[in-house]
Amino acid sequence: MSSAFSEIVTAPRLMAMKKEGLRITAMTAYDASFARAMDESGMDVILVGDSLGNVVQGRKSTVPVTLEDMIYHTRCVARGVSRALLMADMPFLSFQGSVDQALRDAGALMRAGAHMVKGEGGGPFAANAAYLTARGVPVCGHIGLTPQFVHSLGGYRVQGRGAQAAHLLAEAQELAEAGVSALILEAVPARLAAEITAKVAVPTIGIGAGPSCDGQVLVMHDALGLGARRPRFVRDFLAGQGGVKAAFAAYIEAVRAGRFPSPDESYGE
Ligand code: KIV
Repeated sequence: MSSAFSEIVTAPRLMAMKKEGLRITAMTAYDASFARAMDESGMDVILVGDSLGNVVQGRKSTVPVTLEDMIYHTRCVARGVSRALLMADMPFLSFQGSVDQALRDAGALMRAGAHMVKGEGGGPFAANAAYLTARGVPVCGHIGLTPQFVHSLGGYRVQGRGAQAAHLLAEAQELAEAGVSALILEAVPARLAAEITAKVAVPTIGIGAGPSCDGQVLVMHDALGLGARRPRFVRDFLAGQGGVKAAFAAYIEAVRAGRFPSPDESYGE
């Protein structure tokens, strides 16, 4: 691992990586063994995603995932992590609840081993991000396609096309002003993600958001070719590799070199 990528990853370090032009590598993990393999491979951020509802529990959405589920998997992952930043998802109606609920749930995830929590949604929820960050809880925002909103969005669709673009940019700016340490952009056109990345001071981490984000994140099962479906932004990094750690190394290398995602793995206007 080169020295620029060898230090412990913290919330301020993510900000510094944006300034230094070092791309952030992130992937989901749900247990200690895969987390350790990622950590040893040099992954910067390990996300205990509520996507565990899909890939671990076999559910159709992340909506049924509970805080107890998130705490259990965060504890498991924490035992495998030494260098990476451990980010834990706040489940449905947790970050989007009252400030008291958001604070209580974020505190439980931090006590379980998270270094940062992630909350889906902008607009009215930026106030909750500000409340948490003011109390020492690093927060990652998540806008664009927010899977917890699948029922109100009417499905898993690209967000931010046409007139929605200005709205998404405004949400990104509000979350940055609220003090988030990073911002996940999911399933948004590559050009809009590039504009948000250029205009907000915090690092953007894309999934289906094109190559210009400050970092990339994938669900581990997708990156290992195990996904039930294959959205266009997914690449099988295990194919042609000798094993799981080689696949993680190939992903990290491709992201850092700007070779993932390609234009074909990104969304247009
Ligand atoms: O839950 C998750 O895995 C996520 C990623 C898709 C960013 O939120």
